[in-house]
Amino acid sequence: TSVLAVASEVFPLVKTGGLADVAGALPAALAPHGVAVRTLLPGYPAVMAALLDGVVAARFDDLFGGPARVVAATAKGLDVLALDAPHLYARDGGLYVGPDGRDWPDNAFRFAALGYAAAEIGRGATGLPAPEIVHMHDWQAGLAGAYLAYAPAPRPKTVATIHNMAFQGWFPESLRAALRLPPEAMAIEGVEYFGGVGFLKAALQFADHITTVSPTYACEILQPDGGLGLDGLLRARAADVSGILNGIDVGVWNPEADSALPAPFSAANPEGRDVCRRALARSFGLDLGDGPLFGVVSRLSSQKGLDLLAEATPTLLESGGSLALIGSGEAWLEERFRALAARHPDRIGVFIGYDERRAHLLQAGADAVLVPSRFEPCGLTQLCALRYGAVPVVARVGGLADTVIDANPAALSAGVATGVQFPSGDQAALEAALRRVAALHAQPEVWARIQRNGMRSDVSWDASAAAYADLYRRLAAAV
Ligand code: ADP
Ligand code: GLC
Repeated sequence: TSVLAVASEVFPLVKTGGLADVAGALPAALAPHGVAVRTLLPGYPAVMAALLDGVVAARFDDLFGGPARVVAATAKGLDVLALDAPHLYARDGGLYVGPDGRDWPDNAFRFAALGYAAAEIGRGATGLPAPEIVHMHDWQAGLAGAYLAYAPAPRPKTVATIHNMAFQGWFPESLRAALRLPPEAMAIEGVEYFGGVGFLKAALQFADHITTVSPTYACEILQPDGGLGLDGLLRARAADVSGILNGIDVGVWNPEADSALPAPFSAANPEGRDVCRRALARSFGLDLGDGPLFGVVSRLSSQKGLDLLAEATPTLLESGGSLALIGSGEAWLEERFRALAARHPDRIGVFIGYDERRAHLLQAGADAVLVPSRFEPCGLTQLCALRYGAVPVVARVGGLADTVIDANPAALSAGVATGVQFPSGDQAALEAALRRVAALHAQPEVWARIQRNGMRSDVSWDASAAAYADLYRRLAAAV
């Protein structure tokens, strides 16, 4: 099956979050299933700089305000199509926000261009071979569905994957014509969403199939709290909605061969882990007591519930714990954690910024990794934690609920527990979980068993790549 994947970020070329990890890892995971994936992404400066042996495979004379080319190339092992449109992407700053931290004012066109190019390639209107499937990731790719729907046949089949319902890509109706959408698109059965143009709405309206990144999130988004305005549409299409759990790239995340670690380890040979634990504590300036060393690697946003953790630090400290946090995001949360570290320098260590090697060391050295999200479509850090023997302590929502087995008495006696879960969005519940973790950690054999179970659980893409491959095949075969 041939697939054109469309995403606004792809690891290791450009990344702000888990979407990039998923878009970067799926092609290799799908290859053994006979699925050939090419990935279309914006030609940001970092992407253009990474292309090897690029050839210009398509041109657009005017793609929303300037000329553009599609450069086909291999880049860091990926088969990519970079949309080189300097008027949209050749600028310093973030992928989505400018240096002032605000959305780029022309984001509607920056990502309409991505969808438009995907649709043109998808229907075979460029020199590139038409794929059987166009797979749109998140709102940034979503308009591809609409462009295809309003273009003449033949059309590929389409899949829309929701990585985060909180980002929907809404723009005013006044942009409709400039976005090259026909007047009839401004209708409930078109792209119209709260009186404007909805990019994610368009994807969900027109895709042949909709997936999201965990079975539990697939249920949550059918309800108003999770669907955030799109739940009605999703309920109407419930037969076409499924949840396929994310995995992680177990080559990138491999504690037996990880250059970011001072010592290798595995479930069978866990000794090196203590070296990593001490290195982690040292790098954060922490004095290790007998209590658990908690770790966090996260975007600092209200989604992640880390404000609750900040409030719960007295409990964390009283139960003998210490905390190492790596994160960046909202300024008030960065400040909050900096202040906590300044007040308790030997027990709380904070690194504000994005640092992959440090994230690997944290996963290898922390006793437990905290993920207290208010909502979480899948979450990847708890999967890394499982693989690296850091016990995940997670809110019972979305993919966190699906990937961690709570150490309740039944799971402990059956010997299957891999972590700790607690009700989301509730500070008292988080505090109870912190105490529960301290109590489990104080029983070395129980703790070691939980760690070992986690390290032996399958967090790879194997099962889910098979599920995507089946979906593609089914769609490609349908008339
Ligand atoms: P989200 O996509 O909502 O941010 P995920 O858990 O799906 O959450 O993915 C986050 C990814 O980003 C993981 O690969 C995680 O290790 C990484 N990450 C997040 N913050 C940082 C950071 N400050 N430094 C390094 N890696 C980070
Ligand atoms: C989003 C979600 C996260 C998910 C990631 C990859 O960023 O917030 O839960 O793991 O996408 O699908």
